[in-house]
Amino acid sequence: MTTQESSSVIVNKVEKSRISEVDFDNLTFGNIFSDHMFECDYKDGKWQEPTVKPYGLLTISPGAKVFHYGQAVFEGMKAYKDDAGDVFLFRPEKNFERINKSSKRLAIPEFPKDYFFDALHKLLQLDKDWVQPGLGNSLYLRPFAMATQVGVSASPANEYKFMILMSPVQAYYTKDVKVVIAQEYSRSADGGVGAAKAAGNYGAQFYPTNLAKEQGYDQIIWTDSNEHKYLEEAGTMNVFFRINDTLITAPTSDRILDGVTRDSVLALAKRDGITVDVRKLTVDELVAAAKDGSLKEIFGSGTAAVISPVCSFNYNNVDYALTKPEDSYSTKFKKELMDIQYNKSEDPFGWRVKIK
Ligand SMILES: Cc1ncc(COP(=O)(O)O)c(C=O)c1O
Repeated sequence: MTTQESSSVIVNKVEKSRISEVDFDNLTFGNIFSDHMFECDYKDGKWQEPTVKPYGLLTISPGAKVFHYGQAVFEGMKAYKDDAGDVFLFRPEKNFERINKSSKRLAIPEFPKDYFFDALHKLLQLDKDWVQPGLGNSLYLRPFAMATQVGVSASPANEYKFMILMSPVQAYYTKDVKVVIAQEYSRSADGGVGAAKAAGNYGAQFYPTNLAKEQGYDQIIWTDSNEHKYLEEAGTMNVFFRINDTLITAPTSDRILDGVTRDSVLALAKRDGITVDVRKLTVDELVAAAKDGSLKEIFGSGTAAVISPVCSFNYNNVDYALTKPEDSYSTKFKKELMDIQYNKSEDPFGWRVKIK
């Protein structure tokens, strides 16, 4: 059934939901999708009919530019359900701004704000049962844009597809992670695309991350590509260090993704009276702090894992173990963030957006 409601997004509903086939207690992150998806094509210089439709396969020419030049960007955000059954997004404005920033860097036309938000609300109204209740459960939302114009010539496309998929997920990491500090490979470079969620950034991380995994590590802490001297990100997360009681994280730059969770942790830390130092931290300082005992914690921050504590890091083939302190910042921020996301606490920053 197709309906054109008051706003511009057209809704084409599934005839029968697939939800009864899903085992919500045994989900693998991101490989099952909800009943509906959003699709909007760009051609003739403008975004065409925005449509919510049944999740399904695409037919795309193998000559589409996305397959040859990786002209694609994406976002990662989540919808959460509270005990009363209401569904919330967390700071979706930030994801909207960031996907358009990423698109601009990849020469993809920016997407209209009203289509984006109308699509999110319609999708979540239709598929609200896919947002499972319970702390840690959520519906992961994957907006993305890709070049669909056919042509194996290395130039920006004039046709694109913008889509949103939704995937039910449980908590991401179950254990604290072991990381290794990058000394050879880099995820981004000055003037590059590190600050964009460009698809190719992630594909390029797989090989060095596989090497790290073969050696028993879960993630790589990325360093600057010039000297491998400054600590920048952890896997696909921003990274925080607690030295004594000061919380340190790298300033955002064109090499570092401006994470929504990072920004939220910084706001919570300031509110909680924790000393925050947004500055470049060197590997040498980190090793010295690990040796003299002033390094208390390392943790990653990101939408998927929320907060991911690090239990050891390796540098120059030496492992440095960390013991979580009783007054752990990572535990505190994870709880504070999740309490806001799941509507268990006040929302002093106005971060929650309720789906009506
Ligand atoms: C490279 C990178 N850094 C950091 C983050 C964390 O960003 P956010 O907190 O917005 O999820 C992500 C995930 O989106 C990422 O891909």
